[in-house]
Amino acid sequence: MPFVLLGPPGCGKGTYARLLEERMGLLPVSMGQLLRNASKGKTPFARKLKKALARGELQSLLVVLRVLLPHLEKVRYNRVLLDGFPRLTDQALAFEGILHKKRLGIERVILIDTPSREIVRRLGARRVCSLCGQTFGIDVPPKRKGVCDSCGGRLVRRSDDAPKVVRARLKVYARDTKPLIAFYRKRGLLTRVNGFGPPERVYARIEKAIQRAQRKKN
Ligand code: AP5
Ligand code: MG
Repeated sequence: MPFVLLGPPGCGKGTYARLLEERMGLLPVSMGQLLRNASKGKTPFARKLKKALARGELQSLLVVLRVLLPHLEKVRYNRVLLDGFPRLTDQALAFEGILHKKRLGIERVILIDTPSREIVRRLGARRVCSLCGQTFGIDVPPKRKGVCDSCGGRLVRRSDDAPKVVRARLKVYARDTKPLIAFYRKRGLLTRVNGFGPPERVYARIEKAIQRAQRKKN
């Protein structure tokens, strides 16, 4: 059953999802990455999506499900680790309905709680590989400046990491996504993890929360 990583932009969802894949065999599905991939084409849909992403705006439920569901069907919801979905109450309710029909439910929602000042510091320095998407940052630098450690690709800045857009994304998170914390707490599904500290320490907290949920289930 799916795990969900919930938290503000730059809290490390993508970073820890990648580590959880390597070390625990979970299967990360990044909503942001799926949308960025879908925005690469030359169709009117792709062009409109690209502009909206660069402004840091959340996409409609219809767009999100259109991009996400075929992907989840392909992997049969198995060992899935959702990064960045659900992030609105209507998405959470729709997803609950979809899982219910399959006699599934969310295993655990891990909130990576990280202060806004730390997020601004991190996103100002984030660089991503233009080929494989690996992420580097202020405390996770590449071995060679501007070059990806994994594939040698060129490191670039994400269009939504401009300071003005980061501020807009933080506002959207506070207004639209934060209500999900109470939503999942009420359902007894939420575990809060402190997202502040060195990456390996934060990772260890998340891994512990996931292992605890897996033990409870067995
Ligand atoms: P998405 O790509 O999901 O963006 P986000 O939620 O804003 O999160 P980020 O990817 O920016 O950050 P992250 O938490 O993955 O952090 P990372 O690991 O990179 O979504 C993009 C857009 O798509 C949205 O704005 C929206 O428009 C749309 N969208 C997505 N989902 C949607 C949905 N469900 N509904 C509607 N629209 C949707 O880490 C950040 C940096 O910090 C890195 O440089 C990393 O190296 C560094 N770092 C990580 N941990 C630490 C640490 N402990 N200490 C220091 N540095 C650290
Ligand atoms: Mg990410």
